[in-house]
Amino acid sequence: MLTSTLQDGAELRALEPWRAGEFAAYVERHRAHLAPWLPWATSITDADGARRWLQAYADRQAADTGRIYGIWLDGVLVGGALFRVFDADAGVCEIGVWLAPDAQGRGLVTKAAQTMIDWAIRERGIARVEWHTVPDDVRSRAVARRLGMTCDGVLREAFELNGTRHDVEVWSLLATDLQIDLEPEKTSQPPTGYHTVTPRMVVGDAAGAVRFLGAAFGATGDAPDGRPAETRIGDSVIMVTQAGVREPFPALLYVYVADADATYRDALAAGAASIEEPMDTPYGDRRAMVRDPYGNVFQIAHRLAAPA
Ligand SMILES: CC(C)(COP(=O)(O)OP(=O)(O)OC[C@H]1O[C@@H](n2cnc3c(N)ncnc32)[C@H](O)[C@@H]1OP(=O)(O)O)[C@@H](O)C(=O)NCCC(=O)NCCS
Repeated sequence: MLTSTLQDGAELRALEPWRAGEFAAYVERHRAHLAPWLPWATSITDADGARRWLQAYADRQAADTGRIYGIWLDGVLVGGALFRVFDADAGVCEIGVWLAPDAQGRGLVTKAAQTMIDWAIRERGIARVEWHTVPDDVRSRAVARRLGMTCDGVLREAFELNGTRHDVEVWSLLATDLQIDLEPEKTSQPPTGYHTVTPRMVVGDAAGAVRFLGAAFGATGDAPDGRPAETRIGDSVIMVTQAGVREPFPALLYVYVADADATYRDALAAGAASIEEPMDTPYGDRRAMVRDPYGNVFQIAHRLAAPA
């Protein structure tokens, strides 16, 4: 069942036959507002009539040919929406909506229709969502436009209501339209833990390299099959990739640690070969240099306190 929070305090839920009394009272309260546009607002005059109408929709839901929902605001039924037509085989459905006058102007049916469109297209594979409205129904047309629909054309005098024939505008939204709208926004923001530049090494033994990083630098992370390991040292991620698809490509990494001498010793104990023993550099770092068994070179450094 499609149930959705539309806004704070507003919910879209199935409008089932057991709610006939509540629905009949709603129609009674808002008949003058709804009847100029919706034939059922005239024909439903009591709970029995409401139950028959809701039962017909329950039957259509069971047959997957229609659905009806209510919109509740702070527990009060204020409106609704339906799939008047739902034809999964043909890939076409039609949505209709209504609201009590005092629930208008908050975007409730726009959000409800967006929820239904999303469900119809993404979960049910519907290709075309239709919206039928008489041209005079300015608010209904505004919702269609807000939903990104296109007016396909007018069915001349296709709709008889209260003894008058009305033109019907047919608006539609295609699944392909939606895909354009839903194209993910581009962002230069890297994933959590990554910086703009991320070091990556491609090695013959990714699991061994990850173990080495753990033993020498206290790195965390493992080496999952088929994906680069995301190994973390301090605030940085190092991607470790198993050679195969890509040629081996070692890294040269400059790593700041708390104590370069201690980390240098840990690195040698973990299998690294010394390239340079720790020494004080003229640029204020105490720094050593090692090569691990996988070809990667590490310059291991800590900052020297500035002279007082
Ligand atoms: C058609 C009907 C459901 C439209 O109701 P609505 O309140 O205009 O539609 P929404 O719930 O989408 O609200 C849109 C309004 O809320 C505003 N709004 C506020 N927050 C919003 C949000 N987060 N998202 C969208 N709109 C928002 C919009 O600006 C718009 O305001 P406006 O009326 O000043 O232009 C209503 O007028 C109605 O029940 N009419 C009688 C029955 C009917 O005609 N049904 C359609 C038959 S086809």
